[in-house]
Amino acid sequence: MKFFVDTADLAEIRDLAATGLLDGVTTNPSLIAKAGRNFIDLVAEICEVVSGPVSAEVAATDYETMLAEGKHLSKIAPNVAVKVPLTPAGLKVCRALANEGTMVNVTLCFSAAQAILAAKAGAAFVSPFVGRLDDIGQNGLGLIQEIVEIYNAYPAFTTEVLVASVRNPIHVVESARMGAHVATMPPNVIRQLAHHPLTDKGLSQFVADWAKTGQSILDQKLPVRD
Ligand code: G3P
Repeated sequence: MKFFVDTADLAEIRDLAATGLLDGVTTNPSLIAKAGRNFIDLVAEICEVVSGPVSAEVAATDYETMLAEGKHLSKIAPNVAVKVPLTPAGLKVCRALANEGTMVNVTLCFSAAQAILAAKAGAAFVSPFVGRLDDIGQNGLGLIQEIVEIYNAYPAFTTEVLVASVRNPIHVVESARMGAHVATMPPNVIRQLAHHPLTDKGLSQFVADWAKTGQSILDQKLPVRD
């Protein structure tokens, strides 16, 4: 499973990229507004830090303007994935950009029917929002299961399931069990994945026991080999 970070905070992106665990970045207009930076400059900087797909979302909702914005955004860097909403106009833009070889992430997907359309429109990624479905009492992970099953039934569908609106590690683990290709997560969820209280407890014990040996690994000579 690929890990994308869902943020426009460059410091966070740099920090997570340095771990070697980051495969891409997703942004949206809300995250860009929070960053308070010039959109194009920020996306260009993110694309220099992360070589994998970096999603940059169009702002318009009509076909002509979305297409023009998508073409503009795609010129920022080769790893830009243009993000378009899952509307009839957005799907039309997806097809047009995909035909030109641009990666498209179709976002705001809330049903399996919508995900089928995204695949047929040639999307590189479809973004079903699990957390927002859970928020209204629906089954976000159930949607991931449905989409993965459908896509697996049609090898001609090359669209990757990009699990979005992820709120906790359970969303990530369950999506991975279902075979979703990508999870995009806020930085805090990526960090939560590493934590387990027994890891912390076990490590404290090992550190304490090692101290009792009075040894230093780096001070010890390696065996000589002929
Ligand atoms: O970027 C799309 C998605 O991940 C947004 O998540 O938490 O605003 O529902 P959220």
